[in-house]
Amino acid sequence: MVTLATQPRRLEHVLSSDQFDRGLLEDVFARADALAGRRDTRLAGRIMATLFYEPSTRTRLSFESAMLRLGGAVIGTEAAREFSSAIKGETLEDTIRMVSQYADVIVLRHDQAGAAARAAAVASVAVVNAGDGPGEHPTQALLDLYTIRSELGSADGVHIAFCGDLRFGRTVHSLAQLLRLHEGVRMTFVAPEVVQVGSDLQARLAAAGVPFRLTDRLDEVISTVDVVYQTRVQKERFTDLDDFEAARRSIRIDRAVMRALPRRAIVMHPLPRVDEIATEVDEDPRAAYFRQARNGVAIRMAVLDLLLG
Ligand code: CP
Repeated sequence: MVTLATQPRRLEHVLSSDQFDRGLLEDVFARADALAGRRDTRLAGRIMATLFYEPSTRTRLSFESAMLRLGGAVIGTEAAREFSSAIKGETLEDTIRMVSQYADVIVLRHDQAGAAARAAAVASVAVVNAGDGPGEHPTQALLDLYTIRSELGSADGVHIAFCGDLRFGRTVHSLAQLLRLHEGVRMTFVAPEVVQVGSDLQARLAAAGVPFRLTDRLDEVISTVDVVYQTRVQKERFTDLDDFEAARRSIRIDRAVMRALPRRAIVMHPLPRVDEIATEVDEDPRAAYFRQARNGVAIRMAVLDLLLG
């Protein structure tokens, strides 16, 4: 078994990036470094329940892989809206009260912002927000930040261009909040008006003194960025399909865009992608998105260890 320095547990639940300070981030990343690629039994006898009301490949399976690699067990339901008692009219709160009796930690994905906080309010075990509608996705932000650090050496001083669906993109909301804890970070939000970043996040960045700008032109900034963080325009979040079509066609990363990107820069994407990054980009060493997804297992091992270890 890997021995980690004992740290006081400082989190009851993982609901928002706002819960993290630099000290806690260092703790999570040290645990991830120590646990990456390993298997041990530190969570033997503990049970994780995954409750997913929205589809997922990476988050659910990497959490399950993480728990199994730490010796724990996994129960759960995907498509929880159809395959749990939600279909019979049970409230989220009652479901969480029940699942709290069956597991030591609940990993919840839901289509409504604030659902994880509602769950935590009634849970008697730890709750992890695995994405709450257009709200947040804090463990994705942890693995994103971990990726920036491992690819570029540090997140301090980076210029990041967030692209795509910045209005509904929960991974953008969570990562921007973690990056504002870093010195010298600059952010450019590249999106058409209909999916441009919301005023709440802009106000928080301004209050933290983070320099940022909004544009719909990636070509204006591409040669100055360290990170391009591309996102999928999420059809499922739109009520007006004309808005969706207008947004979907707006920003695409292809070989021509990569020619303007600095040699040391990286392209990230939380995935899944549709066509917002051309597959011809995948072979470019600056395409970091599959390495980024791989980091999800180590980070989620670290989060489970932090909550349950
Ligand atoms: N990045 C992410 O949340 O992917 P999934 O929807 O596949 O979990």
